[in-house]
Amino acid sequence: MRVGILTGGGDCPGLNAVIRSVAKSLMLQCDAEVIGIEEGFLGLIERRTRELSYKDVSGILARGGTVLGTHNKANPFSYFERDGEDVSDEVMEYYEELDLDAIVALGGDGTMSICHRLQEMGMNIVGVPKTIDNDIVATDRTFGFDTAVSIATDAIDRLQTTGQSHKRVMILETMGRYAGWIALHAGIAGGADVILLPELPFSVEEVARVVKERADRQRFTIVCVAEGAKTAEGDMVVKERIEESPDPIRLGGIANWLKEELKPMVDSEIRTVVLGHIQRGGSPTAFDRILATNFGAMAASLVAKEQYGRMVALRDQHLTSVELEKVANKTRTVPEDAMGILAAFSVGTSLGVPGM
Ligand code: F6P
Repeated sequence: MRVGILTGGGDCPGLNAVIRSVAKSLMLQCDAEVIGIEEGFLGLIERRTRELSYKDVSGILARGGTVLGTHNKANPFSYFERDGEDVSDEVMEYYEELDLDAIVALGGDGTMSICHRLQEMGMNIVGVPKTIDNDIVATDRTFGFDTAVSIATDAIDRLQTTGQSHKRVMILETMGRYAGWIALHAGIAGGADVILLPELPFSVEEVARVVKERADRQRFTIVCVAEGAKTAEGDMVVKERIEESPDPIRLGGIANWLKEELKPMVDSEIRTVVLGHIQRGGSPTAFDRILATNFGAMAASLVAKEQYGRMVALRDQHLTSVELEKVANKTRTVPEDAMGILAAFSVGTSLGVPGM
């Protein structure tokens, strides 16, 4: 048996742990040859692959990034080097030439959508859900999320002590694209005073009111804002940020925007921190190493059983799998019931304020 493996989209803590788990499971249990595909789908388009030995995948469990490399714009249905040409037929030809029985693809929603289309063209493919954003449907968790939350929580802990010393408003911007999972979890774990999510539009006036109320009591304020958060009027913030960047996913800048809006409304000094890619780099947490290892073993077992066209998943603490079709082109944002703590303490529907 010959199985290819690739990592698509942005990097994420735990990718190497999955690569190791998939490869070792297949080598030990099926005596399989494992072929590493370089830089995600770019390796399939540009014919860059290499055979992985047992030694190649040893000692990488705790290492950040991906030993295979990745490319977040590589898409066989729209190849950026040829003006967005569809080169999926060439990719299928190369897949046949490589004589692969299947490919295991680690990636986020974009990767899963590409996997689904390639599966429909006849490629045997198994997906593994990766992203710090935790926004893939049909799985309760993606690997990488726990690490990002832990890094963002540590950042809030540190902002608590410096914010307290200077009685300042400290605004931390987390990643997460259109989903507020990282901001919600880190905000609760770090005891943020205000948590702003894309799923719960906020008003700057409400944030200012909380800041003033806390300042009156000689207290500082920690705001944890997701990069995709928006005001109730919404589009104003989003529009300005889209004008800065043609790609609305890479908006960034909400923390600095909020600082400028708040300035004339409050007396307190305000400082901002945009955590950015620090949330994605470095070693995965123990939780993510375990999840990644389990996902990898599950993916290998699906390949061994020839159950293709599926993505591995964690549902209600159980490892399972779901058809790629059910995952493609969908995003899992924070549902209302997961905002329980915000709803319980909220001072208004437009603002999530645990106030603890
Ligand atoms: O999807 C993961 C993620 O880190 C998002 O949270 C963020 O919006 C985006 O990727 C950043 O992408 P890039 O690394 O291309 O700047």
